[in-house]
Amino acid sequence: MKKGLFVTFEGADGCGKTTQLKKLEEFLKEKGYDVVTTREPGALDIGQKIRNILLHHNGIVADRCEMFLFLADRAQHVETFIKPAIEQGKIVLCDRHVDSTIAYQGYGRGQDIELLKSLNDIAVNGLVPNVTLLYDVTTETAQQRVGDEKDRMEAAGLTFHKQVRQGYLNLQKENPERIKLINANNSIETVFEDTKKVIINLLQEN
Ligand code: TYD
Repeated sequence: MKKGLFVTFEGADGCGKTTQLKKLEEFLKEKGYDVVTTREPGALDIGQKIRNILLHHNGIVADRCEMFLFLADRAQHVETFIKPAIEQGKIVLCDRHVDSTIAYQGYGRGQDIELLKSLNDIAVNGLVPNVTLLYDVTTETAQQRVGDEKDRMEAAGLTFHKQVRQGYLNLQKENPERIKLINANNSIETVFEDTKKVIINLLQEN
């Protein structure tokens, strides 16, 4: 049976990962691979409702409520979309996944990181990305790219976003085999060359 692959894209708001995901989708489809793209939070039905609360709710969202909503979205997404696609032999490109929760809810909001790791494990039920691309960019550049129209998470402030960036860098040091660091301060084309290198290696190993 054909083996699917699970690739996740991570980084701060404004790091450019979504642009890279789309370019990679195009590149792989041209080469004849069966590719699907998705995102967290909010790829599907229930997830879209959760996403709306997470990004656009006007009142208070308690930190633990936020944490459980991201995790609930993930559990539904993994079970109903990601796992079936991988089982069908597809390459799944996913914009954000488990590391976002550790970086944002853990390092950003200050929730217990070991607890978050355990909760992530429950949400994904054994699924681990084959590779994670981490697009690292200075917080100042990322904030400029986001611009003035910010959603609830993007509006969380400079200190929060610096902690998120540091969190991602820590995660990369802890998981150098899975998480590949990409310098996202460079031009879109240079960053895409780096993205392709990682994926071509992965395809050769597979
Ligand atoms: P989105 O509009 O998808 O942003 P981006 O294009 O930067 O991915 O918004 C997702 C936001 O939710 C983003 O600010 C990161 C945040 N987030 C968390 O805080 N925890 C999570 O577990 C996930 C998946 C996302």
